[in-house]
Amino acid sequence: MTTEITITTPDDWHLHLRDGAMMEGVLPHTARDFARAIIMPNLVPPVVTGAQAAAYRDRILAALPEGMEFEPLMTLYLTEATDPADVRAAAASGLVKAVKLYPAGATTNSDSGVRDIDKVRGVLETMAEIGLPLCVHGEVTRPEIDIFDREAVFIDEVLDPLRRATPGLRVVMEHITTAEAAAYAAEGGDDLGATITVQHLMLDRNDMLVGGMRPHYYCLPILKRGTHRPKLVEAATSGSPRFFLGTDSAPHPQHKKEAECCAAGCFTAPVALACLAQVFDEADALDKLDGFVSQHGPRFYGLPVNTGAVTLTKGDPVDLPGSVETGAGPVAVFDPGRAVHWQVT
Ligand code: DOR
Ligand code: ZN
Repeated sequence: MTTEITITTPDDWHLHLRDGAMMEGVLPHTARDFARAIIMPNLVPPVVTGAQAAAYRDRILAALPEGMEFEPLMTLYLTEATDPADVRAAAASGLVKAVKLYPAGATTNSDSGVRDIDKVRGVLETMAEIGLPLCVHGEVTRPEIDIFDREAVFIDEVLDPLRRATPGLRVVMEHITTAEAAAYAAEGGDDLGATITVQHLMLDRNDMLVGGMRPHYYCLPILKRGTHRPKLVEAATSGSPRFFLGTDSAPHPQHKKEAECCAAGCFTAPVALACLAQVFDEADALDKLDGFVSQHGPRFYGLPVNTGAVTLTKGDPVDLPGSVETGAGPVAVFDPGRAVHWQVT
């Protein structure tokens, strides 16, 4: 039985850091285990321009505790008014590593997102030309489409046509949740990647809804039917370079989660690596963990792999942190509801 594993220092290819007091409270929990992260731009107001991304990056670095190292990889929030020249300049300077497409209304702070894909064709052409990846929240928002079907419908109606219309566009299917998305990503070429979260590898909708409704498991895209989860685990543990970790760690103050209308997001950053080691161990695939968390992401983004190392050890079930105090109030930490035997040491 393996009781210790050492992997290359990982990165998180999809992270919500927020801003201000919340950012200060959650940032150290990512910086402790991850060298870099793709920083989501869905602030209020969103991070739309290169100048806004530069200012946000400065705020992140200023909030980093003394002695910690962490590189925020900035993204721009795509709107129908995004200027291709600004995107080009922000990418050329090295500041911006991706642009994020939120279909308007799909999730938290997505109101400024894209309603008509034709309005952003110019930006997408520019991105294809310069090789800048598009990170996609892949859900349709039409009210007649059931929330559990929104990802699969998006692939057929939006993603596939968009990729065909824009040859060379590098696309990351963010936080995939379905067998359909895993299959589509697996069949894609080198210009397609997909991130998977911790919660979608560990839970399905029964975990969220049977025996009471658990708001801390509510995230978007929503947890799916139990038949999908094994397909996601299979993808993550397959060794395919298409799949890499994007935690989508999305902190909300506890009172906004435990509310009549609860906010979407699971705050997984403090326990992400421990939970992943548990998942990969259960799948008898610990040898594939390094690829998923440390190798495939940098390869897709054309960045160097980290040089450091992180060791995880296995023992008795670990006590998970419960919650983290921040200046914006306590934030509940993701608890998968079953034993986690691994910890970062
Ligand atoms: O659960 C989610 N939370 N999904 C998203 O797409 C956004 C995120 C957030 O910002 O809270
Ligand atoms: Zn997200």
